[in-house]
Amino acid sequence: RRAQGSMERFPLKNVNGVPLMCYIADNWDSISAFCPDPSDLLIATYPKAGTTWTQEIVDLLLNNGDAEACKRAPIVERIPFLEICSPPPIPSGLDLLKKMSPPRVIKTHLPFQLVPEGFWKNKCKVIYVARNAKDNLVSYYHFDRMNFTQPEPGPWEEYLNKFMKGEVGWGSWYDHVKGYWREREKRNILYLFYEDMKENPRREVERIMRYLGLSLSDDVIERIVQLTSFKIMKDNPMVNYTFIPDFVFDQSISPFMRKGQLGDWTNHFTPAQSQLFDEDYARQMKGEDIPFRTNI
Ligand code: A3P
Repeated sequence: RRAQGSMERFPLKNVNGVPLMCYIADNWDSISAFCPDPSDLLIATYPKAGTTWTQEIVDLLLNNGDAEACKRAPIVERIPFLEICSPPPIPSGLDLLKKMSPPRVIKTHLPFQLVPEGFWKNKCKVIYVARNAKDNLVSYYHFDRMNFTQPEPGPWEEYLNKFMKGEVGWGSWYDHVKGYWREREKRNILYLFYEDMKENPRREVERIMRYLGLSLSDDVIERIVQLTSFKIMKDNPMVNYTFIPDFVFDQSISPFMRKGQLGDWTNHFTPAQSQLFDEDYARQMKGEDIPFRTNI
């Protein structure tokens, strides 16, 4: 069913076994040939893991906590989304990057194995943010309801099954978090958790600051923590995606800044679904020691 005034949803197409928005797949050769500068920074996430939050923290850190400087443009223009390409109204990552000079901050949702080789060859810094599977899934479900560039999510239970099978945009959550985790030491990836950011945002902002080689005053750090609280970001038009027309992101269905909480999965999973999910999770994550938390 198509919402009134909305556009046609884009199908997914496989790139090396990973389902991606068809336009990304069709433009794959130029995306994978992109070569960053060694000074460029990559923020990599599975969709809905806390990308925008981390982007805003990084931009504020790089601008010494200057809120006005970070309102110079919507987040999608300040930090290009590497693989995104038209027709979605989010500007094409490659086009934006051509116009910007390094050092640049770049966003991607690509799984580790699809990240253009140039990032590793040039030893770029990479920040990866992971979020526990259940909350990540809930957030993605609501996003796919309102985001008309992605396939129709269908009913909750159907979406749950698609997520477990990796049949959603950018593929398997399980492979995504494992791929970066396994490479984090070798590639000097800063691997962060959404739950840690919720628990102690200041500690995680400082961690990012040190990784970027910056040393800001206590006041500035505190200001950045405040400016990147869920409450403030929800009302900040440069980060809350209200700059995307509502025939693409229909925020009356579900707002982009939805809840920003830990544990919302308990409001969605039935006990039976939770048990099934946990059993499957144990299989898919067997032998991994990634310290995910579904509650704090
Ligand atoms: P919910 O849908 O659970 O609310 P991304 O930026 O990767 O698309 O992730 C979006 C998710 O991060 C949404 O989760 C959104 O509300 C949450 N989020 C965005 N900014 C946040 C912040 N400052 N603090 C906590 N959560 C935030």
